[in-house]
Amino acid sequence: MASSLVACNIGSYDDAVDRYNSNLPPPPPPPPPAGFGPNFSEIQASVFTPSCTGCHSGAAPSAGLNLDAANSYTMLVGIASTQDAGTQRVDPGNPNASYLIQKLEGPGAAGGQMPPTGPLPQADIDVIRQWIMDGAIDDRVQASNPIRVISLSPMPGANLNAAPVQIVAGFDRDLDASTVNATTFILENSSGVPVAAAVPPAIGGTLRSAIFDLTGVALADDTYTVRLLGTGASVIMDLDANALDGELIANLPSGDGTAGGDLVAQFTITTPVVIGPTLDQIQAVVFSPTCATAGCHSAGTMAGGLNLSDADTSLAQLVGVPSSNPAQAGEIRVIAFDPDNSYLIKKLENAAGISGQQMPFGGTPLSATDVGHIRQWITDGALR
Ligand code: HEC
Repeated sequence: MASSLVACNIGSYDDAVDRYNSNLPPPPPPPPPAGFGPNFSEIQASVFTPSCTGCHSGAAPSAGLNLDAANSYTMLVGIASTQDAGTQRVDPGNPNASYLIQKLEGPGAAGGQMPPTGPLPQADIDVIRQWIMDGAIDDRVQASNPIRVISLSPMPGANLNAAPVQIVAGFDRDLDASTVNATTFILENSSGVPVAAAVPPAIGGTLRSAIFDLTGVALADDTYTVRLLGTGASVIMDLDANALDGELIANLPSGDGTAGGDLVAQFTITTPVVIGPTLDQIQAVVFSPTCATAGCHSAGTMAGGLNLSDADTSLAQLVGVPSSNPAQAGEIRVIAFDPDNSYLIKKLENAAGISGQQMPFGGTPLSATDVGHIRQWITDGALR
């Protein structure tokens, strides 16, 4: 994780070359990240207490808003603004509609931008935005109810046509990272044999997700079982030591309302069998629309003595049949298993030593993909 972030900031080699070639100045360094996380106690300690309580505290706080640690949460979340009564100071889940953000990023409906001494760094405001986005939760209140799984990828019961690169579980609250590990986050095949993750299971980009990394892990076609443990000696817990409520009853979120219970979900991998191009497909995609047109290789005209008007006719006219062109004596239109020596391919690819025009006559050559499909059909034996 850390190394990929570094790589992003440096930019690609191509970017560097482009910049060198065009004499562009180097990009500005990224702004320093905020020194605090998107939770209420850190925002209080890093922003409200040092930057706001000089005016927003005491008996007559500015705009009737007390931002000291004892009062700020209850005076912000879900409370109407003094200056703009139709707007909540903090509207959980909705940073743009929150008057606090409007006052930090501009003057708001009245007065000036906050704090009056000069705006906060945008990185700091973005952390406050994130806290609002996440529901503006008061992390100082200890949760006493169980933690639940709210999302799982692959979804429970998923039918996949390729192995997933990771399994990601999302939770409704921050996790105790130390409780997410190979003992509590398990993947098994249909015989109950555990699958080892590429790196041990751990929390993801936020404390609310857990990742089972399958990068480079070969998973055969099978039905697999994912287990997230809420019962037993080692269980997944939140920061207040509430155990996972894991039962998957009908749908996510998990749980029966009581802490404990494992989440058990299945997904199935079925890799599709790849079938090479058939003559019917080639007839439909190439011969009928492009060759058997009026005045060309149609039943009526049979240009070059060749009729490609339907799959049966094409087969009879192509496979093992000599060219009708006296100048090309010895050429066979299609030699099963041998595309390189098949006259059809030579005419489509305009091979050296072939007389007359490249086909399609007077038209755009076929795409490499279409010729490749015809080659594959010949390699496979040129069957009906
Ligand atoms: C120097 C004093 C001062 C400081 C420091 C200050 N404010 Fe203010 N604040 C005011 C005054 C005065 C008003 C009302 C007039 C205005 O909006 O300009 C106000 C109004 C507000 C409002 C509007 C409240 C409402 O309900 O309409 C918000 C929100 C706000 N401030 C947030 C902050 C935040 C957050 C900080 C710290 C990052 C901060 N203020 C720092 C003086 C201050």
